[in-house]
Amino acid sequence: HMEKTLAMIKPDGVFGNYTDRIKNAILGSGFSIFKEMIVQLDEDSAATFYAEHSSKSFYSSLVKYMTSGPVLVMILEKENAITDWRALIGPTDTHKAKITHPHSIRAMCGLDSEKNCVHGSDSTQSAQREISFFFKDMFAGGVATEH
Ligand code: CMP
Repeated sequence: HMEKTLAMIKPDGVFGNYTDRIKNAILGSGFSIFKEMIVQLDEDSAATFYAEHSSKSFYSSLVKYMTSGPVLVMILEKENAITDWRALIGPTDTHKAKITHPHSIRAMCGLDSEKNCVHGSDSTQSAQREISFFFKDMFAGGVATEH
């Protein structure tokens, strides 16, 4: 079924000039970009977005990294968008991605486990929460899937 997911190009991806290459990979894989927006996250919003990681050792570093520059957030739409976007970006750890998923986006532009260039929602619930986080008028009281 048609789904929407949240994709994000993180500060290292934006600074590294990977935006066009990532968008080409997105469109070349059959996704459409339903909405997009450039955002500078502040500490509060980054901390809230990543609240599920608040107990992790890398949390404060993650918040610092995610506020280090602008991010590009996109709502992607496609059949099975959530799973397919996660597959296209590859594993969290860029070093692993380069070995096991050499054609993935993280293998192309990620730097390490933290500065891994892109984000993708990991479930229907996450997609709905993350889309609503950035695009507040979307799915008010609804779900992040259609059709
Ligand atoms: P993502 O999986 O999109 O969301 C959680 C983020 O936390 C992850 O991308 C990385 O940016 C970061 N992260 C995950 N694991 C580590 C780690 N071991 N060390 C540092 N950062 C991490």
